[in-house]
Amino acid sequence: MRLALGIAAALGLVFGQTSKCPSFTDYSASPHGPFSSGPHHIPSMRPALTCRTFQNPTIEHAIRDVSSAIKDPDWQQLFANTFPNTLDTTVAWHNDSTPPYTFLITGDITAQWIRDSTNQVLPYLPYLTMDSKLAQLVLGLVNMQAEELNAYPFGNAFQPPPRSRLTPAENGIAVDLKVQPPFYNQTVFEAKFEIDSFASFLQLASAYWRSTGEYQFIYSQTWVEAVDKILDIIRILQQPTYTNKQVNRALVSYVRKTTEAKETQFAGGAGNPVKYTGMVRTLFRPSDDATIFPFLVPANAFLCVELENLRDMLGTLRVFSEIREKAAELANQIRQGIQNYGIVKHPDHGQVFAYEVDGYGSQLLTDDANVPSLLSLPYLGFVNATHPVYKNTRKMLLSTDSNPWYFEGPYIRGIGSPHTGYLRTWPMSVAMRGMTSDNSDEVKECLDMLKASTSGLGLIHESVNVNSGSEYTRSWFAWGNSLVSQFVIDAITRFPGII
Ligand SMILES: *[C@@H]1O[C@H](CO)[C@@H](O)[C@H](O)[C@H]1NC(C)=O
Ligand SMILES: *[C@@H]1O[C@H](CO)[C@@H](O)[C@H](O)[C@H]1NC(C)=O
Ligand SMILES: *[C@@H]1O[C@H](CO)[C@@H](O)[C@H](O)[C@H]1NC(C)=O
Repeated sequence: MRLALGIAAALGLVFGQTSKCPSFTDYSASPHGPFSSGPHHIPSMRPALTCRTFQNPTIEHAIRDVSSAIKDPDWQQLFANTFPNTLDTTVAWHNDSTPPYTFLITGDITAQWIRDSTNQVLPYLPYLTMDSKLAQLVLGLVNMQAEELNAYPFGNAFQPPPRSRLTPAENGIAVDLKVQPPFYNQTVFEAKFEIDSFASFLQLASAYWRSTGEYQFIYSQTWVEAVDKILDIIRILQQPTYTNKQVNRALVSYVRKTTEAKETQFAGGAGNPVKYTGMVRTLFRPSDDATIFPFLVPANAFLCVELENLRDMLGTLRVFSEIREKAAELANQIRQGIQNYGIVKHPDHGQVFAYEVDGYGSQLLTDDANVPSLLSLPYLGFVNATHPVYKNTRKMLLSTDSNPWYFEGPYIRGIGSPHTGYLRTWPMSVAMRGMTSDNSDEVKECLDMLKASTSGLGLIHESVNVNSGSEYTRSWFAWGNSLVSQFVIDAITRFPGII
């Protein structure tokens, strides 16, 4: 589960469904036939036609197309389950008028995460020019994210808009929570400040533009205001904790009563102190766990790349020169900050990227399966996989001797997360390892591990116990399904015939 407290997300009626549809949380927890003819007997895990939340002929065609390039019947079935999972199960609300809006839930909670929702639709981007309805769906998500971040830029997950008539999800943690700036719980589902939410919002906008050539959305007041707010917040959160021995205003803080250290923040919620580096502070990681040192290097790298993409998009379109210049300047400062403070010396591996630093010299050497991660730096476009510091870092990360959150067992080998505890590997990290490798043996090894990771349930789980194939978290995890299907397309494109 994403949250420490179990949240019963009674989904009720969602877009396009009839009332007889079972909750997909339950449906995905047991296998349904027919089964694939391979040794893994992968079940068929798409909901019944009338229960799918968005039906699209272009994606159905793509499933057949990709499957015809796959020989392995287990992978054919696993791809057919995972690739459409976001469309089949998470389009909780969609208004396809102009402008469109789309509320895309994460899976087992009726809330929209900025980061998850961007990643959930990334595999569909290559198909947008072939299908205006699919393009409208993704554009609706661009607009929805802009509305959400404009309303409360410090949130990581949002409630359905009242006009959708969906019931807001109950978030039990509200009780002992103190957050600055304050938020409204009918709008915001979770108020954890994570800079990768900003990067994910910018990523979706420029990726949508690059995929379709469409950019009218940037002229909406809401989008421009959201971008303005984000750039202002980034600038403030580059500032050090102290100036002339006085404490600078914290701007954002999050603290609550909990038995889980990862669910609250140090220093009254403002986070551990930092010096100026050019990087931007964040209170939480993409796992929604607290940072230990506020400069989370992979999230800063992702933000840097997406500020550069914003700069390039606005430059090509010759609009908003002030925003473009601000984005360019911030991106340069962040890149410089990572270069100067985010790369450290490891006793065995030489120069490596740290996971978190504070500008004082403190450093955390590890990784987390959630993207942005250090392993994903080439996927995010921050460095090439051949970059010597990345190569050293990768050796450090994929080793039980030097990464405390890397686990190996008979079922799976890969990076986990403090979010799910010891000896739990996240299949997403295995997909990311494959996508950042040029070695066909390594890519095949990752594909094999993923195929065996589903506990016989035919979908990608959040985490899997490396010693017990049947122990997993989250039967319905849309982001994981999207990422693995993206990996499959990437693998068969680069290595035809690999599966
Ligand atoms: C859908 O969008 C149109 C156009 O903006 C608007 O008139 C209509 O009220 C919207 N419907 C809902 C349910 O929000
Ligand atoms: C919002 O907060 C109020 C007051 O703490 C609480 O009673 C209510 O259940 C919360 N609503 C949601 C959707 O979490
Ligand atoms: C990766 O390498 C290519 C070709 O050498 C180069 O054009 C590109 O700028 C590099 N990308 C990064 C992020 O360093």
